[in-house]
Amino acid sequence: SSPPIFYSFASGAELVKGLAEFILEAQKEALGKKGRFTVALSGGSLPKQLAGLIGNAGVKWDKWHVYYADERVVPLDHEDSNHKLCTDVLFSKVNIPKENIHPIDTTLLEDLEDLSDSYEKQLIDEFASKDSARFPVFDLILLGLGPDGHTASLFPGHELLAEADRWVAYLDDSPKPPLKRITLTYPVINHASRVAFVATGESKQDVLAEIMDDPARTSLPASRVRPTSHGNLYWFVDDAASAKVKYE
Ligand code: 6PG
Repeated sequence: SSPPIFYSFASGAELVKGLAEFILEAQKEALGKKGRFTVALSGGSLPKQLAGLIGNAGVKWDKWHVYYADERVVPLDHEDSNHKLCTDVLFSKVNIPKENIHPIDTTLLEDLEDLSDSYEKQLIDEFASKDSARFPVFDLILLGLGPDGHTASLFPGHELLAEADRWVAYLDDSPKPPLKRITLTYPVINHASRVAFVATGESKQDVLAEIMDDPARTSLPASRVRPTSHGNLYWFVDDAASAKVKYE
């Protein structure tokens, strides 16, 4: 794949604007090709950073098909739920058809294996029937970055970093609460057409400098996000987060 494309914005407001433009471009390309736009969202501050899309007439919400890069295994109205967060700050304000939004099946909260299998099945329904690909190809996967270098629910040193087969995996020992989560795996993340990290604030300075200064190192989960040849990686950060990055 091409080298990562790195954008650092002077303010949060400018990042929100730049990110919205980028997403519109990704949407345009996807709709031109196949009339639908498949996106995976993350939690943290990311849902709020999609604010630039709200009220933008160019966004074809009815063509969006939304999944989660990772999700906490809690009821959908729980404060820890990424789905609840996305619903509160985004879905409640725009017109994505309900059937196009794909939360976890909360009848399966007690059985992580069944829960992640059922989420994988949702992805198979969306992707596999159409191109019978080994891995799904999302039009866009939006990721956050933890100060420890985690992304989605792929944490430093965790055995899931080696998962090469499943599309969706689960963990019950997350170093960051809540313990139980499901997550997209690297093969899925790295097969996307576009993967974009969004990271803001001083708490990301050290980890971002580490990732950008030596992209070859793989101990940080975020550094292992490397789209295959047909995909591209983007960074949307603010100047507070990028303060220690040395530009070549
Ligand atoms: C979690 C969080 C976490 C978060 C990152 C980035 O699942 O525990 O959602 O993964 O997304 O730490 O957080 P910010 O986007 O708030 O900086």
